[in-house]
Amino acid sequence: MITQLGLSLLQRLPPEQAHQATIAALKTGVGVPVRTPKDDPSLTIKLPVSGLNLSNPIGLAAGFDKNADVFLPMLKFGFGFVECGTVTPKPQPGNDRPRLFRLPADRAVINRMGFNNHGLGYFVRRIERKGDRSGPVGANVGANKTSEDRTADYVTGMKAVWDHADYLTLNISSPNTPGLRGLQDKGALEDLLRRCGETALTLEHDYGRKPVFLKVAPDLDDKAIEEIAETALAAPYLHGLIVSNTTIARPDTLKDEDKTEAGGLSGAPLMTPSTNVLRAFSKQLEGRLDLIGVGGIASGADAYAKIKAGAHAVQLYSALIYDGPNLVAQIKEELEAALAADGFKTLSEAVGTGL
Ligand SMILES: Cc1cc2nc3c(=O)[nH]c(=O)nc-3n(C[C@H](O)[C@H](O)[C@H](O)COP(=O)(O)O)c2cc1C
Repeated sequence: MITQLGLSLLQRLPPEQAHQATIAALKTGVGVPVRTPKDDPSLTIKLPVSGLNLSNPIGLAAGFDKNADVFLPMLKFGFGFVECGTVTPKPQPGNDRPRLFRLPADRAVINRMGFNNHGLGYFVRRIERKGDRSGPVGANVGANKTSEDRTADYVTGMKAVWDHADYLTLNISSPNTPGLRGLQDKGALEDLLRRCGETALTLEHDYGRKPVFLKVAPDLDDKAIEEIAETALAAPYLHGLIVSNTTIARPDTLKDEDKTEAGGLSGAPLMTPSTNVLRAFSKQLEGRLDLIGVGGIASGADAYAKIKAGAHAVQLYSALIYDGPNLVAQIKEELEAALAADGFKTLSEAVGTGL
């Protein structure tokens, strides 16, 4: 396991170098647990619409393993599922550095990476290794910055990863690709979901069914939430929403000197706003789509709050930067205890009980 010493050394490096060192170490297997303890049966869940089977609901959010290099070691840390990407059709370098900032005073992160990744060719060669997957491995697809038809990039991504990933995510909510979030607007979203849906139906016919999710931003008002929910429900092929990506908002509570850096804010300050948006979607959707809650999770109580707000599963990233991957086991233990304390025998019973 990654030790406290290893973690404090990584935390002394600039954040992007620390991330690169972590990926390199994981690739060689350094610090990776050999065996993962079995999950308690109370944490098992089958997502009702997508049918995704999870031995526990704690997932690794997109952005950590952009190139599908380390999903197997990350599963070994006890994640119930891992989402790789965002991958774009062509490789791209992303924005100029520095583009990743720790805000320790706020237990937060700001990033403006801009979809730096090796492109679909590399990604598919990595994700097609079946390996010993103890949980589903998702592929999060996006659009190149310079693409003239962004929707076509999602279609290209879907076709490339369909047969290799256990589920797909259409990421239209990164704040770091100018104009990308415009795909959340009603007309653009209808067009995207129609074209991706038609592609999915053909791929399903040729290769079999695959869960497809849409990842949205937390910076949405009630009208936008209602419109996205309606459009998502009318889509020809969509099983759920992932709520949410990072925020462009800067809450007044932020203390760290780097709070004015441009980009998406994640970590603790995102917990309440992203959970509020999740709850609003849950009320609109009434169980007709699966919900994965993301944003600010750093404890079992945080994960439980998302589940009570309607999430069937959750994901996290930023808390790993502060607490390391051993946090996963701790969150699972705390969640298991919280379910038992409230008299729930299974996780499904607790979903949406706080609405
Ligand atoms: C450095 C960094 C890179 C990210 N890259 C992506 C990405 O490529 N695609 C994506 O859908 N989300 C990306 N995210 C967003 C996370 O997946 C997640 O939605 C967000 O950080 C909120 O969760 P957290 O508070 O647990 O970090 C990134 C987040 C961070 C911190």
